[in-house]
Amino acid sequence: MRFSIGISTQFLARFALVTVVAVATGDGGGGGGGNSLGRFALDKILRDARDVFGELDDESSAPASTFYGHGHGYGYNKYARWMAGLPDEVPLTHLNIPGTHDAATWNYTQTAQDGLANATRCDGTTPRPARVYRCQQRSIVGALEAGIRFFDLRFALDPLSGRLVFWHGPALLSVTAGVEDVLFGFYDWLDRHPEEMVLLSFQYEKGTRVNATSDATVQRKLFDTLTSGAAARYVDQGRGQLDHPTLGIAMTNGVRAVVLFRRFDLDMLPPEFERAMPGLHMAPGKWIDNSRAFELVYNDTAASGGGGAGTAFIEDFYHPDDYTTVKENIDAKFEAVASHLQQAATENFDNLFVTFTSGTHVEVDPPVYPDVMALGSGEELGINHRVLDLLGGMKGKRLGVVVMDFFEEPSGLIDLLLDF
Ligand SMILES: *[C@@H]1O[C@H](CO)[C@@H](O)[C@H](O)[C@H]1NC(C)=O
Ligand SMILES: *[C@@H]1O[C@H](CO)[C@@H](O)[C@H](O)[C@H]1NC(C)=O
Ligand SMILES: *[C@@H]1O[C@H](CO)[C@@H](O)[C@H](O)[C@H]1NC(C)=O
Ligand SMILES: *[C@@H]1O[C@H](CO)[C@@H](O)[C@H](O)[C@H]1NC(C)=O
Repeated sequence: MRFSIGISTQFLARFALVTVVAVATGDGGGGGGGNSLGRFALDKILRDARDVFGELDDESSAPASTFYGHGHGYGYNKYARWMAGLPDEVPLTHLNIPGTHDAATWNYTQTAQDGLANATRCDGTTPRPARVYRCQQRSIVGALEAGIRFFDLRFALDPLSGRLVFWHGPALLSVTAGVEDVLFGFYDWLDRHPEEMVLLSFQYEKGTRVNATSDATVQRKLFDTLTSGAAARYVDQGRGQLDHPTLGIAMTNGVRAVVLFRRFDLDMLPPEFERAMPGLHMAPGKWIDNSRAFELVYNDTAASGGGGAGTAFIEDFYHPDDYTTVKENIDAKFEAVASHLQQAATENFDNLFVTFTSGTHVEVDPPVYPDVMALGSGEELGINHRVLDLLGGMKGKRLGVVVMDFFEEPSGLIDLLLDF
Protein backbone atom coordinates (compact mmCIF):
# COMPACT_ATOMS: atom_id res chain seq x y z
CA MET A 1 0.00 0.00 0.00
CA ARG A 2 2.65 2.41 1.13
CA PHE A 3 4.80 1.50 -1.85
CA SER A 4 2.03 2.08 -4.35
CA ILE A 5 1.29 5.51 -2.89
CA GLY A 6 4.94 6.45 -3.34
CA ILE A 7 4.92 5.36 -6.97
CA SER A 8 1.76 7.17 -7.89
CA THR A 9 2.93 10.42 -6.33
CA GLN A 10 6.14 10.28 -8.30
CA PHE A 11 4.24 9.43 -11.41
CA LEU A 12 1.96 12.42 -10.93
CA ALA A 13 4.88 14.64 -10.07
CA ARG A 14 6.56 13.70 -13.32
CA PHE A 15 3.46 14.61 -15.32
CA ALA A 16 3.11 17.83 -13.38
CA LEU A 17 6.68 18.72 -14.14
CA VAL A 18 6.02 18.34 -17.84
CA THR A 19 3.28 20.92 -17.54
CA VAL A 20 5.33 23.22 -15.38
CA VAL A 21 8.04 23.17 -18.02
CA ALA A 22 5.48 23.76 -20.75
CA VAL A 23 4.06 26.73 -18.85
CA ALA A 24 7.50 28.17 -18.19
CA THR A 25 8.52 27.96 -21.80
CA GLY A 26 5.12 28.70 -23.28
CA ASP A 27 2.80 31.65 -22.86
CA GLY A 28 3.47 31.99 -19.14
CA GLY A 29 -0.24 32.13 -18.53
CA GLY A 30 -0.29 29.57 -15.76
CA GLY A 31 -3.64 28.03 -14.82
CA GLY A 32 -5.08 28.58 -18.29
CA GLY A 33 -7.44 26.26 -20.02
CA GLY A 34 -4.88 23.57 -20.88
CA ASN A 35 -6.37 20.12 -20.59
CA SER A 36 -3.21 18.04 -20.75
CA LEU A 37 -2.86 15.17 -18.34
CA GLY A 38 -0.04 17.12 -16.71
CA ARG A 39 -2.36 20.01 -15.93
CA PHE A 40 -4.90 17.62 -14.40
CA ALA A 41 -2.14 16.02 -12.34
CA LEU A 42 -0.92 19.39 -11.09
CA ASP A 43 -4.49 20.39 -10.25
CA LYS A 44 -4.86 17.20 -8.24
CA ILE A 45 -1.63 17.88 -6.34
CA LEU A 46 -2.73 21.45 -5.61
CA ARG A 47 -6.10 20.15 -4.36
CA ASP A 48 -4.26 17.78 -2.03
CA ALA A 49 -2.08 20.68 -0.88
CA ARG A 50 -5.03 22.95 -0.18
CA ASP A 51 -5.38 22.39 3.59
CA VAL A 52 -1.89 23.79 4.04
CA PHE A 53 -1.08 25.83 0.93
CA GLY A 54 -4.59 27.25 0.56
CA GLU A 55 -6.30 28.60 -2.50
CA LEU A 56 -6.54 32.21 -3.37
CA ASP A 57 -10.29 32.00 -3.79
CA ASP A 58 -10.48 31.37 -0.05
CA GLU A 59 -9.02 34.76 0.75
CA SER A 60 -12.04 36.88 1.37
CA SER A 61 -9.74 39.63 2.61
CA ALA A 62 -7.99 40.01 -0.75
CA PRO A 63 -9.89 42.57 -2.83
CA ALA A 64 -11.36 40.52 -5.67
CA SER A 65 -12.50 43.39 -7.85
CA THR A 66 -9.18 44.03 -9.59
CA PHE A 67 -7.29 41.22 -11.23
CA TYR A 68 -3.57 41.49 -11.44
CA GLY A 69 -3.79 41.46 -15.19
CA HIS A 70 -2.72 37.99 -16.27
CA GLY A 71 -6.21 36.62 -16.33
CA HIS A 72 -5.46 33.71 -14.03
CA GLY A 73 -7.76 34.74 -11.26
CA TYR A 74 -5.20 35.84 -8.69
CA GLY A 75 -6.55 38.74 -6.67
CA TYR A 76 -4.80 42.08 -6.75
CA ASN A 77 -2.41 42.76 -3.95
CA LYS A 78 0.14 45.53 -4.05
CA TYR A 79 2.87 43.34 -2.55
CA ALA A 80 2.30 40.23 -4.70
CA ARG A 81 5.27 41.34 -6.83
CA TRP A 82 7.24 43.56 -4.51
CA MET A 83 10.60 42.09 -5.52
CA ALA A 84 10.06 42.83 -9.20
CA GLY A 85 11.60 46.28 -8.95
CA LEU A 86 14.70 45.12 -7.08
CA PRO A 87 17.91 44.62 -9.02
CA ASP A 88 19.50 41.19 -9.19
CA GLU A 89 22.66 42.40 -7.41
CA VAL A 90 20.92 43.03 -4.08
CA PRO A 91 22.24 40.61 -1.43
CA LEU A 92 19.37 38.95 0.39
CA THR A 93 20.78 40.06 3.75
CA HIS A 94 20.21 43.69 2.79
CA LEU A 95 16.46 43.20 2.43
CA ASN A 96 13.59 43.28 4.86
CA ILE A 97 11.76 40.02 4.37
CA PRO A 98 8.41 39.51 6.11
CA GLY A 99 7.80 35.95 7.26
CA THR A 100 5.22 33.75 8.93
CA HIS A 101 5.93 31.52 11.92
CA ASP A 102 4.28 28.09 11.79
CA ALA A 103 2.83 29.00 8.43
CA ALA A 104 0.89 25.75 8.04
CA THR A 105 -1.39 26.30 11.06
CA TRP A 106 -3.69 28.92 9.49
CA ASN A 107 -6.80 26.71 9.39
CA TYR A 108 -6.14 24.69 12.55
CA THR A 109 -9.45 25.43 14.23
CA GLN A 110 -11.07 23.26 16.90
CA THR A 111 -13.20 21.72 14.12
CA ALA A 112 -10.05 20.81 12.23
CA GLN A 113 -8.48 19.29 15.35
CA ASP A 114 -11.60 17.26 16.17
CA GLY A 115 -11.80 15.99 12.60
CA LEU A 116 -8.16 14.85 12.70
CA ALA A 117 -8.40 13.32 16.19
CA ASN A 118 -8.08 9.71 15.12
CA ALA A 119 -5.25 10.38 12.70
CA THR A 120 -3.20 12.45 15.14
CA ARG A 121 -2.84 10.76 18.47
CA CYS A 122 -0.20 8.21 17.75
CA ASP A 123 1.91 8.92 20.83
CA GLY A 124 -0.88 8.36 23.31
CA THR A 125 -1.05 11.89 24.73
CA THR A 126 -3.99 14.26 24.55
CA PRO A 127 -3.43 17.43 22.55
CA ARG A 128 -4.23 20.81 23.99
CA PRO A 129 -6.98 22.92 22.45
CA ALA A 130 -6.46 23.97 18.83
CA ARG A 131 -5.94 27.59 19.84
CA VAL A 132 -2.61 26.59 21.41
CA TYR A 133 -1.24 25.63 18.00
CA ARG A 134 -2.81 28.11 15.63
CA CYS A 135 -0.50 30.96 14.63
CA GLN A 136 -1.95 32.33 11.38
CA GLN A 137 -5.23 32.96 9.67
CA ARG A 138 -4.05 33.68 6.13
CA SER A 139 -3.21 30.66 3.99
CA ILE A 140 0.28 30.27 2.57
CA VAL A 141 -0.77 31.45 -0.89
CA GLY A 142 -2.68 34.33 0.72
CA ALA A 143 0.49 35.26 2.60
CA LEU A 144 2.58 35.04 -0.59
CA GLU A 145 0.19 37.43 -2.31
CA ALA A 146 0.36 39.74 0.72
CA GLY A 147 4.18 39.96 0.44
CA ILE A 148 5.39 37.26 2.86
CA ARG A 149 8.61 35.67 1.55
CA PHE A 150 9.87 33.57 4.50
CA PHE A 151 7.85 30.55 5.61
CA ASP A 152 8.46 28.53 8.77
CA LEU A 153 7.36 24.97 7.90
CA ARG A 154 7.33 22.08 10.40
CA PHE A 155 7.32 18.59 9.00
CA ALA A 156 7.15 15.06 10.37
CA LEU A 157 6.80 11.53 9.10
CA ASP A 158 3.16 10.50 9.22
CA PRO A 159 3.32 7.11 10.98
CA LEU A 160 0.20 5.92 9.14
CA SER A 161 0.88 6.89 5.52
CA GLY A 162 4.69 7.00 5.61
CA ARG A 163 4.63 10.46 3.97
CA LEU A 164 6.15 13.72 5.15
CA VAL A 165 3.31 15.95 6.32
CA PHE A 166 2.90 19.08 8.45
CA TRP A 167 2.73 19.12 12.23
CA HIS A 168 2.97 21.69 14.95
CA GLY A 169 4.12 20.01 18.14
CA PRO A 170 1.76 17.07 18.67
CA ALA A 171 -0.81 18.43 16.18
CA LEU A 172 -1.15 16.93 12.71
CA LEU A 173 -2.37 19.72 10.40
CA SER A 174 -3.72 17.75 7.44
CA VAL A 175 -3.86 14.16 6.23
CA THR A 176 -3.96 15.10 2.55
CA ALA A 177 -1.39 17.89 2.21
CA GLY A 178 2.05 16.31 1.99
CA VAL A 179 5.25 18.35 2.10
CA GLU A 180 5.88 17.66 -1.59
CA ASP A 181 2.33 18.70 -2.55
CA VAL A 182 2.82 22.04 -0.82
CA LEU A 183 6.17 22.53 -2.54
CA PHE A 184 4.36 22.18 -5.86
CA GLY A 185 2.09 24.98 -4.66
CA PHE A 186 5.17 27.18 -4.21
CA TYR A 187 6.62 26.14 -7.59
CA ASP A 188 3.34 26.91 -9.34
CA TRP A 189 3.14 30.30 -7.63
CA LEU A 190 6.74 31.10 -8.59
CA ASP A 191 5.95 30.32 -12.22
CA ARG A 192 3.26 32.98 -12.01
CA HIS A 193 5.54 35.37 -10.08
CA PRO A 194 8.96 34.72 -11.62
CA GLU A 195 10.54 37.87 -10.14
CA GLU A 196 9.89 36.78 -6.52
CA MET A 197 12.07 34.57 -4.32
CA VAL A 198 11.13 32.75 -1.13
CA LEU A 199 13.05 31.46 1.85
CA LEU A 200 11.62 28.15 3.08
CA SER A 201 12.51 27.01 6.58
CA PHE A 202 12.07 23.31 7.30
CA GLN A 203 12.14 21.97 10.84
CA TYR A 204 11.49 18.45 12.07
CA GLU A 205 8.70 17.90 14.63
CA LYS A 206 8.92 14.77 16.72
CA GLY A 207 5.44 14.59 18.24
CA THR A 208 4.05 12.04 15.77
CA ARG A 209 4.52 8.93 17.91
CA VAL A 210 6.39 7.84 21.03
CA ASN A 211 10.16 8.26 20.61
CA ALA A 212 9.89 9.52 17.03
CA THR A 213 13.20 10.95 15.82
CA SER A 214 14.61 12.41 12.66
CA ASP A 215 15.93 9.03 11.58
CA ALA A 216 17.37 7.85 8.28
CA THR A 217 13.90 7.28 6.80
CA VAL A 218 12.76 10.82 7.59
CA GLN A 219 15.99 12.37 6.38
CA ARG A 220 16.07 10.39 3.15
CA LYS A 221 12.47 11.35 2.33
CA LEU A 222 13.19 15.01 2.93
CA PHE A 223 16.41 14.86 0.94
CA ASP A 224 14.60 13.25 -1.99
CA THR A 225 11.80 15.84 -1.83
CA LEU A 226 14.17 18.81 -1.77
CA THR A 227 16.47 17.51 -4.53
CA SER A 228 13.88 15.99 -6.88
CA GLY A 229 13.76 16.89 -10.56
CA ALA A 230 11.15 19.54 -9.85
CA ALA A 231 13.05 20.92 -6.82
CA ALA A 232 16.22 21.25 -8.89
CA ARG A 233 14.38 23.70 -11.16
CA TYR A 234 13.20 25.95 -8.31
CA VAL A 235 15.48 25.47 -5.33
CA ASP A 236 18.78 27.34 -5.37
CA GLN A 237 21.51 24.71 -5.43
CA GLY A 238 24.03 26.96 -3.66
CA ARG A 239 25.24 25.92 -0.23
CA GLY A 240 25.87 28.09 2.75
CA GLN A 241 25.80 31.43 0.97
CA LEU A 242 23.33 34.25 1.29
CA ASP A 243 25.35 37.38 0.66
CA HIS A 244 26.29 35.89 -2.67
CA PRO A 245 24.52 34.80 -4.81
CA THR A 246 22.00 37.55 -4.51
CA LEU A 247 18.35 38.15 -5.24
CA GLY A 248 19.27 37.44 -8.84
CA ILE A 249 19.92 33.73 -8.42
CA ALA A 250 18.31 32.68 -11.66
CA MET A 251 17.04 29.18 -12.07
CA THR A 252 17.16 27.62 -15.53
CA ASN A 253 13.43 28.06 -15.94
CA GLY A 254 13.68 31.79 -15.44
CA VAL A 255 12.27 32.14 -11.93
CA ARG A 256 14.06 33.63 -8.96
CA ALA A 257 14.76 30.87 -6.49
CA VAL A 258 13.60 29.10 -3.40
CA VAL A 259 16.39 29.37 -0.82
CA LEU A 260 16.31 26.68 1.86
CA PHE A 261 16.73 27.62 5.51
CA ARG A 262 17.66 24.19 6.83
CA ARG A 263 16.68 23.65 10.44
CA PHE A 264 17.42 19.95 10.01
CA ASP A 265 20.46 17.68 9.81
CA LEU A 266 21.15 14.77 7.50
CA ASP A 267 23.37 13.12 10.12
CA MET A 268 21.72 9.69 9.84
CA LEU A 269 22.70 9.43 6.17
CA PRO A 270 26.14 8.91 4.59
CA PRO A 271 28.10 12.21 4.32
CA GLU A 272 27.53 12.58 0.59
CA PHE A 273 23.89 13.48 1.28
CA GLU A 274 24.92 16.46 3.38
CA ARG A 275 27.42 17.50 0.71
CA ALA A 276 24.70 17.36 -1.95
CA MET A 277 22.09 19.25 0.06
CA PRO A 278 21.64 22.89 -0.92
CA GLY A 279 20.63 25.74 1.38
CA LEU A 280 21.72 27.44 4.59
CA HIS A 281 22.36 24.85 7.29
CA MET A 282 20.85 26.25 10.50
CA ALA A 283 21.89 23.15 12.44
CA PRO A 284 19.38 22.28 15.18
CA GLY A 285 22.28 21.65 17.57
CA LYS A 286 23.45 25.26 17.15
CA TRP A 287 19.98 26.78 17.48
CA ILE A 288 19.70 27.99 21.07
CA ASP A 289 16.22 27.25 22.34
CA ASN A 290 14.12 30.18 23.51
CA SER A 291 16.98 32.64 23.18
CA ARG A 292 16.62 36.44 23.22
CA ALA A 293 19.62 36.68 20.89
CA PHE A 294 22.23 34.28 19.60
CA GLU A 295 24.62 33.93 16.71
CA LEU A 296 24.56 30.86 14.52
CA VAL A 297 27.46 30.19 12.17
CA TYR A 298 25.96 28.44 9.15
CA ASN A 299 29.12 28.58 7.05
CA ASP A 300 32.45 28.31 8.91
CA THR A 301 34.55 29.20 5.88
CA ALA A 302 32.58 32.31 5.08
CA ALA A 303 32.38 33.32 8.76
CA SER A 304 36.14 32.93 9.30
CA GLY A 305 36.72 35.30 6.39
CA GLY A 306 35.24 38.09 8.50
CA GLY A 307 32.99 40.71 7.01
CA GLY A 308 29.82 39.25 8.44
CA ALA A 309 29.05 36.55 5.89
CA GLY A 310 28.19 33.06 7.13
CA THR A 311 26.67 34.12 10.45
CA ALA A 312 23.01 34.50 11.35
CA PHE A 313 21.81 36.64 14.26
CA ILE A 314 18.62 35.15 15.62
CA GLU A 315 15.99 36.12 18.20
CA ASP A 316 13.63 33.23 18.99
CA PHE A 317 12.39 34.01 22.51
CA TYR A 318 9.07 32.26 21.98
CA HIS A 319 8.23 31.29 25.56
CA PRO A 320 8.81 33.98 28.23
CA ASP A 321 8.65 31.40 31.01
CA ASP A 322 9.69 33.67 33.89
CA TYR A 323 6.58 35.81 33.53
CA THR A 324 2.97 35.36 34.58
CA THR A 325 0.52 38.02 33.49
CA VAL A 326 -0.39 38.71 29.88
CA LYS A 327 1.23 42.13 30.18
CA GLU A 328 4.48 40.78 31.61
CA ASN A 329 4.71 38.15 28.88
CA ILE A 330 4.08 40.62 26.08
CA ASP A 331 6.46 43.17 27.62
CA ALA A 332 9.26 40.61 27.90
CA LYS A 333 8.80 39.39 24.36
CA PHE A 334 8.57 42.90 22.95
CA GLU A 335 11.79 43.91 24.69
CA ALA A 336 13.62 41.03 22.97
CA VAL A 337 12.10 41.88 19.58
CA ALA A 338 12.80 45.62 19.84
CA SER A 339 16.39 45.16 20.89
CA HIS A 340 17.04 42.66 18.09
CA LEU A 341 15.50 44.91 15.44
CA GLN A 342 17.58 47.85 16.69
CA GLN A 343 20.67 45.69 16.32
CA ALA A 344 19.61 44.61 12.81
CA ALA A 345 19.31 48.25 11.83
CA THR A 346 22.88 49.06 12.83
CA GLU A 347 24.86 45.83 12.35
CA ASN A 348 26.93 44.91 9.28
CA PHE A 349 24.40 44.30 6.52
CA ASP A 350 26.13 41.10 5.40
CA ASN A 351 24.93 39.42 8.56
CA LEU A 352 21.63 37.65 8.25
CA PHE A 353 19.13 38.84 10.87
CA VAL A 354 16.10 36.76 11.77
CA THR A 355 13.67 38.09 14.37
CA PHE A 356 10.67 36.04 15.50
CA THR A 357 7.89 38.26 16.84
CA SER A 358 5.83 35.14 17.67
CA GLY A 359 5.50 33.73 21.17
CA THR A 360 3.25 31.84 23.54
CA HIS A 361 2.91 30.91 27.23
CA VAL A 362 -0.21 28.85 27.73
CA GLU A 363 0.76 27.38 31.11
CA VAL A 364 -0.18 30.59 32.95
CA ASP A 365 -3.68 31.79 33.78
CA PRO A 366 -5.05 33.40 31.69
CA PRO A 367 -3.10 31.54 28.99
CA VAL A 368 -1.02 33.57 26.57
CA TYR A 369 -2.09 31.85 23.34
CA PRO A 370 -0.20 32.75 20.15
CA ASP A 371 -3.08 35.05 19.18
CA VAL A 372 -2.99 36.78 22.58
CA MET A 373 0.74 37.38 22.25
CA ALA A 374 0.38 38.72 18.71
CA LEU A 375 -2.88 40.62 18.97
CA GLY A 376 -3.27 41.31 22.68
CA SER A 377 -6.34 40.86 24.85
CA GLY A 378 -8.60 43.25 26.66
CA GLU A 379 -6.67 46.45 27.18
CA GLU A 380 -3.29 44.92 26.54
CA LEU A 381 -1.84 45.66 23.13
CA GLY A 382 -0.25 42.67 21.45
CA ILE A 383 3.22 42.40 19.96
CA ASN A 384 1.97 43.22 16.48
CA HIS A 385 0.59 46.61 17.52
CA ARG A 386 3.73 47.41 19.44
CA VAL A 387 5.94 46.35 16.53
CA LEU A 388 3.84 48.58 14.26
CA ASP A 389 4.69 51.56 16.48
CA LEU A 390 8.33 50.56 16.65
CA LEU A 391 8.65 50.20 12.87
CA GLY A 392 6.98 53.56 12.39
CA GLY A 393 10.09 55.04 13.99
CA MET A 394 12.52 52.89 11.99
CA LYS A 395 11.48 53.69 8.44
CA GLY A 396 14.05 52.90 5.82
CA LYS A 397 16.17 50.75 8.13
CA ARG A 398 17.47 47.29 7.32
CA LEU A 399 15.60 44.92 9.65
CA GLY A 400 16.24 41.56 7.99
CA VAL A 401 13.82 38.65 8.17
CA VAL A 402 10.91 39.35 10.54
CA VAL A 403 8.79 36.26 11.27
CA MET A 404 5.31 36.98 12.61
CA ASP A 405 2.08 35.41 13.83
CA PHE A 406 -1.23 36.80 12.47
CA PHE A 407 0.79 39.27 10.37
CA GLU A 408 -2.23 40.92 8.75
CA GLU A 409 -3.32 42.52 12.03
CA PRO A 410 -3.07 45.43 12.45
CA SER A 411 -2.79 46.33 8.79
CA GLY A 412 0.34 48.26 7.98
CA LEU A 413 3.02 45.89 9.26
CA ILE A 414 3.95 44.77 5.76
CA ASP A 415 3.89 48.37 4.50
CA LEU A 416 6.38 49.44 7.14
CA LEU A 417 8.65 46.42 6.63
CA LEU A 418 8.76 46.92 2.88
CA ASP A 419 9.30 50.68 3.07
CA PHE A 420 13.10 50.47 3.02
C1 LIG B 1 -10.61 24.65 7.12
O1 LIG B 1 -10.84 23.45 7.82
C2 LIG B 1 -12.19 22.98 7.78
C3 LIG B 1 -12.26 21.70 8.60
O2 LIG B 1 -11.93 21.95 9.89
C4 LIG B 1 -12.58 22.70 6.35
O3 LIG B 1 -13.94 22.30 6.31
C5 LIG B 1 -12.40 23.95 5.52
O4 LIG B 1 -12.65 23.65 4.19
C6 LIG B 1 -10.97 24.46 5.67
N1 LIG B 1 -10.86 25.73 4.99
C7 LIG B 1 -10.04 25.93 3.99
C8 LIG B 1 -10.07 27.31 3.40
O5 LIG B 1 -9.28 25.07 3.59
C1 LIG C 1 -12.53 8.45 16.40
O1 LIG C 1 -12.65 7.13 16.86
C2 LIG C 1 -13.64 6.95 17.84
C3 LIG C 1 -13.55 5.52 18.36
O2 LIG C 1 -13.29 4.63 17.32
C4 LIG C 1 -15.02 7.27 17.25
O3 LIG C 1 -16.01 7.13 18.21
C5 LIG C 1 -14.98 8.71 16.74
O4 LIG C 1 -16.18 9.04 16.10
C6 LIG C 1 -13.83 8.94 15.78
N1 LIG C 1 -13.74 10.37 15.48
C7 LIG C 1 -13.68 10.84 14.24
C8 LIG C 1 -13.57 12.32 14.10
O5 LIG C 1 -13.70 10.12 13.26
C1 LIG D 1 10.67 5.10 24.27
O1 LIG D 1 12.00 5.26 24.74
C2 LIG D 1 12.15 4.89 26.11
C3 LIG D 1 13.57 5.26 26.53
O2 LIG D 1 14.47 4.74 25.62
C4 LIG D 1 11.85 3.42 26.27
O3 LIG D 1 11.97 3.05 27.61
C5 LIG D 1 10.40 3.15 25.78
O4 LIG D 1 10.13 1.78 25.83
C6 LIG D 1 10.21 3.66 24.38
N1 LIG D 1 8.81 3.52 24.02
C7 LIG D 1 8.39 3.06 22.85
C8 LIG D 1 6.92 2.91 22.67
O5 LIG D 1 9.16 2.77 21.96
C1 LIG E 1 30.61 28.66 2.44
O1 LIG E 1 30.72 29.85 1.71
C2 LIG E 1 31.75 29.82 0.74
C3 LIG E 1 31.85 31.20 0.15
O2 LIG E 1 32.20 32.12 1.14
C4 LIG E 1 31.41 28.78 -0.29
O3 LIG E 1 32.43 28.73 -1.25
C5 LIG E 1 31.24 27.43 0.38
O4 LIG E 1 30.77 26.49 -0.56
C6 LIG E 1 30.27 27.50 1.52
N1 LIG E 1 30.38 26.24 2.24
C7 LIG E 1 29.35 25.56 2.75
C8 LIG E 1 29.65 24.30 3.45
O5 LIG E 1 28.20 25.93 2.68
